[in-house]
Amino acid sequence: GFAKQKDGQEIMVRPSLDGRYHLVVTAPPPLRFGSFLPYFFAVAIAIALLGWTLSAGIVSPLHRIANAVDRFGRGDLSARVASDRKDEIGNLARSFNAMADRIQTLLTAERRLLQDVSHELRSPLSRLSLAFELMKDASDSEAAVSRVRREINRLSQLVATLLEVNRSESDPSSMRTQPVPVASLTEEIVEDSGGEAEVRNIRIETQIHCSTVVEGDPELLRRALENVLRNAIRFAPAGSCVQVRVHDSNGRVKILVRDYGPGVPENLLGRIFDPFFRVDESRDSAAGGVGLGLSIARRAVLLHQGEITARNAAPGFQVSITIPVSARDPL
Ligand SMILES: Nc1ncnc2c1ncn2[C@@H]1O[C@H](COP(=O)(O)OP(=O)(O)OP(=O)(O)O)[C@@H](O)[C@H]1O
Ligand SMILES: [Mg+2]
Repeated sequence: GFAKQKDGQEIMVRPSLDGRYHLVVTAPPPLRFGSFLPYFFAVAIAIALLGWTLSAGIVSPLHRIANAVDRFGRGDLSARVASDRKDEIGNLARSFNAMADRIQTLLTAERRLLQDVSHELRSPLSRLSLAFELMKDASDSEAAVSRVRREINRLSQLVATLLEVNRSESDPSSMRTQPVPVASLTEEIVEDSGGEAEVRNIRIETQIHCSTVVEGDPELLRRALENVLRNAIRFAPAGSCVQVRVHDSNGRVKILVRDYGPGVPENLLGRIFDPFFRVDESRDSAAGGVGLGLSIARRAVLLHQGEITARNAAPGFQVSITIPVSARDPL
């Protein structure tokens, strides 16, 4: 037998014993580095592609989220992440956006409240200093003193209400919840308001068909209902009646307070729950309000996962409060 090479192929030829046959074996040429190169490039390109996809699909979206978080942290409250992905990264972006929305609303509301408060505190203070000036050379010192006293009362009432707002604004986890029988709470509040109603010759009619006990903060609930009822009594025409109805409605307690007063212009209905909003300065401040009652009521109701709405009942005005029976664990 012999071996020889042709085109780099090993060829072995071996004759059989009788010489009639030849066994021919060919072997491919031994592998050389050069022959790996195409595979090497293919794999390198595949890795590069994979890296690029990973970076485009995961790393850079994460980077964008990190950027937004960073901007938000440095005080740019409008920083958001644009993403319509359906995966975890999309979820992360959406949670961030939701959180940013909430914080922005809270901070904006807080700022507005502070502005309103300073505004509200300024007017009684300036009236007070004016009253003091007048008092110096007042012929009727009795009247001057009572004017000063009235402004001081107004200021302290304002500060007291602001403290109330602040307490109900604080986080829901600080709520002192306990079982509250709505029927007896309502009866109590109606009784407490009896004096005020009597002075204005107003009858309070109650219809309470409710045995429900809600899990809530009795102080906050009382405040909500009291503010609504006080408004009704204040705006009801002398000699009319105010109706208070309480009933169960599938898993919720519904409280309706209705008066036969002037109501609220339809286009302003959406704003009466805003802090310091009053429909008509002359009409409403004569009644002694500062415009915080309904905003306090709304916060209290929202802390109970409830709902408060108002509508003109032509004639009159109706506010309805709905509280879920178990505010603590909404289904
Ligand atoms: N029953 C009602 N009838 C007519 N208008 C109402 C009634 N309840 C509320 N309003 C209007 O909504 C405004 C806001 O009410 P809200 O209770 O927040 O403030 P207020 O009663 O003026 O002041 P406060 O309650 O702080 O003493 C009132 O000023 C009034 O214009
Ligand atoms: Mg009020």
